[in-house]
Amino acid sequence: MVVVDKLSGLQQALKTWRQSSQRIAFVPTMGNLHAGHLQLVTEARQLAERVVISIFVNPSQFGVGEDYASYPRTEQDDIDKLKPLGVDLVFMPSVAEMYLPDAKTTVLVNGISDNYCGAFRPGHFAGVATVVCKLFNMVQPDVAVFGLKDFQQLAVIRTMVKDLNMPVQIVGVDTVREASGLAMSSRNGYLSDGQKAVATSLYQSLLAAKTAVLAGVDYEDVEQQSLLFLQQAGFQPDYFSICRSHDLAKATAADNDLVLLVAAKLGSTRLIDNICFTK
Ligand code: PAF
Repeated sequence: MVVVDKLSGLQQALKTWRQSSQRIAFVPTMGNLHAGHLQLVTEARQLAERVVISIFVNPSQFGVGEDYASYPRTEQDDIDKLKPLGVDLVFMPSVAEMYLPDAKTTVLVNGISDNYCGAFRPGHFAGVATVVCKLFNMVQPDVAVFGLKDFQQLAVIRTMVKDLNMPVQIVGVDTVREASGLAMSSRNGYLSDGQKAVATSLYQSLLAAKTAVLAGVDYEDVEQQSLLFLQQAGFQPDYFSICRSHDLAKATAADNDLVLLVAAKLGSTRLIDNICFTK
């Protein structure tokens, strides 16, 4: 497994593989790898001859007052976790390697970026789309693998790839959960043991809402009850929304393919989760 921090090193390795027509699967990450990330890598391993992972805590997707400075950086641990998984190359650029100081271009994916997390984290999805676009241009993968846990992020990336004719296949991988149901996330590391116990209510709220939706309860009532449930559990919810899974528009009773999206703060830690199902 090669670890490079310069674009030139990345391009040198990629050139050799491309010359021998080897397919490249790419997993972009911000590091602090947990079982959810490792599942993405395992999936990528099945999809191509070569697997490239990026580890880059992207400043442009963090808002003012968010956790960019304190975001966990565990590079050596991450490398150790990736070694046994058959990863070919880890790209760990610095901020200066990724962003020219006079860069003028931002990728905005309108509409799908605007609601839910986009409304609570202004500029977040522009930062994500821009860095993912740049990474796709650098790696030029045949296929890229993302977690379904960041459901809106995946929708933004799929839209960008379609709109900009990017020649990359996007694969979404199911959320990996702790035994308690809590979705794996690097931000779970911010939680105390007590908060971790409370945090399981996030997934419970999704399961209860799914049951209510399938029982025919009015969607607005389900959303209100879910918000109340989360508040009573100790969360400060940002949103709980029943959406159409293909375009994230607000669902009506006539829609069958649904995703329930939730984001809520526990203390200063913001957690997101979702479940997708067909009625
Ligand atoms: O999901 C993440 O870890 C990040 O948003 C991504 C896709 C690596 C872009 O920085």
